[in-house]
Amino acid sequence: MTVNITLSANPVAEAEREKLLQSPIFGTIFTDHMITATWTRDGGWQQPELGPRKPFQMNPENAAFHYGQQLFEGMKAYRGADGSIRLFRPAENAARMNRSARRMAMPEVPPELFLDSVRTLVSVERGWIPAEGSLYLRPFMFADESFLGVRPANRCTFCVIASPAADYFRAGAKGLTVWVENETSRAAPGGTGAAKCGGNYAGSLMAQSRASSEGCDQVLFLSACGNRQIEELGGMNIFFVRKDGRVQTPPLGTILPGITRASVIELLKADGITVEEVPYTFDALQADVEAGEISEVFVCGTAAIIASVSRLKHSDGELEIGQPGETARRLRTTLQGIYTGDIAGPDGWSVIVE
Ligand code: COI
Repeated sequence: MTVNITLSANPVAEAEREKLLQSPIFGTIFTDHMITATWTRDGGWQQPELGPRKPFQMNPENAAFHYGQQLFEGMKAYRGADGSIRLFRPAENAARMNRSARRMAMPEVPPELFLDSVRTLVSVERGWIPAEGSLYLRPFMFADESFLGVRPANRCTFCVIASPAADYFRAGAKGLTVWVENETSRAAPGGTGAAKCGGNYAGSLMAQSRASSEGCDQVLFLSACGNRQIEELGGMNIFFVRKDGRVQTPPLGTILPGITRASVIELLKADGITVEEVPYTFDALQADVEAGEISEVFVCGTAAIIASVSRLKHSDGELEIGQPGETARRLRTTLQGIYTGDIAGPDGWSVIVE
């Protein structure tokens, strides 16, 4: 699908951009342009537009402000050693966005519109990809209708913005400390846990604040069903490596179906490692850690890539996991190699934009 292009008359000057790209803190710097496309129930999707990044003009009664009908994706563009610019499994993001859209009663974004928008933005913003790091892309969609009645919006806007990113966790190398939340939950069966919608993240922030005040980097949620099954972190999936080499991770259902999660499972299986997607309670983890059965815990996500967990803190004490381990280190190196094209991953994983 063709994207109409109107370039900014005032892009950030090259010298200033180079300064900004030295050590970008995740989510703080944004590129010159954005993509927008509007959908109406009567007219369907309009052609996407690339234009200067600018504020939206919205009425205070805009439905997204009130009922949170919105969703988003996260993906990254990398510059390879050969100078090519690559996306990691972008079709998976397009597919997941549409699964989220169905759950949020929003229109599906035609994959061609999604992918052409992302590719065009990356291509125009290629100068914003840091040498060390990536260009984080944030496709999102929101109800864009002045209406206070509670029903699916008749007008939605799809948008893509881009933000140069270095490591998500500045302290990643020494391992994260994670707060195990036992007062609030993130998602319930039948709820929106598997959709990438803002409400899931908003609902995690109270626990994230508690985690921060406990000196932790992140929060780990347990099931809403009262069985203390481990689910996921505020914005990442979790894996456990057992002493016997088996790896386990919570099954899909109420958790976000991470594309990094799926890739980790495939990479481990390709190495002959047994990966089990099975329920695991925090109490079983505690017993396993105390018995020396767990050799590594790590988390993964688009923003975080792979980060080791060295300690889990909970209301009754702490679980010491230990130093970052070999599985997480190897996976991170492999994924980063695939992202930049230095390692040939499975077919279709690393997609050259130009
Ligand atoms: C991502 O990894 O892309 C996420 O969406 C997690 C977080 C930054 C919200």
